[in-house]
Amino acid sequence: MLLHIILNGKPITAEIEPEQTLLSVLRNDLKHTGAKQGCGVGECGACTVVLDGRAIKSCTVLAAQCEGSEVLTIEGLAKNNELHPLQRAFIDHGAIQCGYCTAGFIMTALALLQRKPNATRGEIQAAISGNLCRCTGYVQIIDAIEAYAAALGEPPAKEGL
Ligand code: FES
Ligand code: FES
Repeated sequence: MLLHIILNGKPITAEIEPEQTLLSVLRNDLKHTGAKQGCGVGECGACTVVLDGRAIKSCTVLAAQCEGSEVLTIEGLAKNNELHPLQRAFIDHGAIQCGYCTAGFIMTALALLQRKPNATRGEIQAAISGNLCRCTGYVQIIDAIEAYAAALGEPPAKEGL
């Protein structure tokens, strides 16, 4: 079957098998390998991409369900050879070690902050609770996301609201 999606702003048509996951199509057919295969069952978040504005675990979604959708992956963030400021914040805060989890965290955070630019630290923690990192501990990752949110210029919402 044919799949039509907007991938990182560009219309794409791909021939897929009905049982293929979005992760499989991205990595194996479209050669977008930024989303990683970790657990394969929705537990680790390494495969996270943004689908129509929402962070989703692409190992749990059939590509066929994405017909007509907009998909944003980590490959779509850098512009003109410049990293996206959220990618830069991860580097600046030491939030990357092996890097296997990094794209997933960044896509999760991006979806949150596009929806809620003034997210609190608690909301950031809640948003990334489905992403696992075995290397960094989570403090640097949360610091990086919070710093990027602060740079967006929206004052953080009050905790508990
Ligand atoms: S590979 Fe998709 S959640 Fe782990
Ligand atoms: S940096 Fe290695 S798993 Fe997160």
